Amino acid sequence: MDRVQISDDLNFSRLVYGMWRIGDDTNTSVGYVKAKIHACLDQGITTFDQADIYGGYNAESLLGEILKADHGLIGKMEIVTKCDIVAPVGRYADAPIKYYDTSRAHIEKSVENSLRDMAIEQIDLLLIHRPDPFMDHYETGAVLDDLVASGKVRGVGVSNFRPWDWKLLQSGMKSQLLTNQIEISLAEITPFTNGDITFHQQHNQRPMAWSPLGGGNLILGDSNLHKLMDEIAGAYNVDRAAVAVAFLLAHPAGILPILGTNNLERIKKINDANRVEIDRVIWFRLYEAALGHEVA
Ligand SMILES: NC(=O)c1ccc[n+]([C@@H]2O[C@H](COP(=O)([O-])OP(=O)(O)OC[C@H]3O[C@@H](n4cnc5c(N)ncnc54)[C@H](OP(=O)(O)O)[C@@H]3O)[C@@H](O)[C@H]2O)c1
Repeated sequence: MDRVQISDDLNFSRLVYGMWRIGDDTNTSVGYVKAKIHACLDQGITTFDQADIYGGYNAESLLGEILKADHGLIGKMEIVTKCDIVAPVGRYADAPIKYYDTSRAHIEKSVENSLRDMAIEQIDLLLIHRPDPFMDHYETGAVLDDLVASGKVRGVGVSNFRPWDWKLLQSGMKSQLLTNQIEISLAEITPFTNGDITFHQQHNQRPMAWSPLGGGNLILGDSNLHKLMDEIAGAYNVDRAAVAVAFLLAHPAGILPILGTNNLERIKKINDANRVEIDRVIWFRLYEAALGHEVA
């Protein structure tokens, strides 16, 4: 598994395991979640993606139960988590509406909750989950700087930001934003041409790609894209998932795909994506199949 440098003191595995769906599984026992984590670690997948809101603000606690029981795991994992979405469930059940909160008070409180729930002393990467149209970039930037200075977080970044959102927040802070976690896949190819990937590629910032299998949509179906994925998968004796992830890995922007399968056998095969070679022509065959027509 390749390792990639995110900042001077932060390295991630090229493939990341996402814990959004972890609480939706039929089996959420400590033993089974631990088996999933070990299946990742065994393949060199050491970076894990969380958010305060996952599982109705419960997914971090699920991970925390494992880390409390096995402290040694903490040093083997890099933990990414996110904040700013306030939804009227779990600890925010009393919130009158769903909204975003990038205030100092909310971010500081969220970080304290995440540290406590995951039973860790430092978050490796804290992301602002969604761009907040009510953001005071000086206030948000200052609290992110302070969290880095305090050591509570090692680095900071964003998610679902457009380049202008990124520039606004960056202009209000001293620390460097390290990544933008956005939806990129053969089911969501617009970031390749709408300026999102271009912006980060220009600045040597690796985007993280959420839902690299389109949340499962790229796996089921019989379209031309699915048939092409099968053709490529067959040549490497892998499944469609490996081809969809390899398509992202091949791109020069250095994208970090975040896989979200809950299935232990599928988790054990995430690394298959690294065996699939996607050259320029194969990349364009996949891209054009996703586009639905040849490029102009
Ligand atoms: N920043 C954001 O706003 C944001 C938004 C969404 C997600 N994320 C992050 O991205 C991660 C991944 O998102 P995702 O779960 O939508 O990713 P995904 O990997 O595109 O989709 C996973 C889904 O595909 C299904 N699937 C069906 N067949 C599969 C196969 N052969 N191989 C693998 N999966 C298969 C899985 O079901 P099974 O479980 O049955 O395998 C699962 O429901 C999340 O966990 C989260 O960390 C971030």
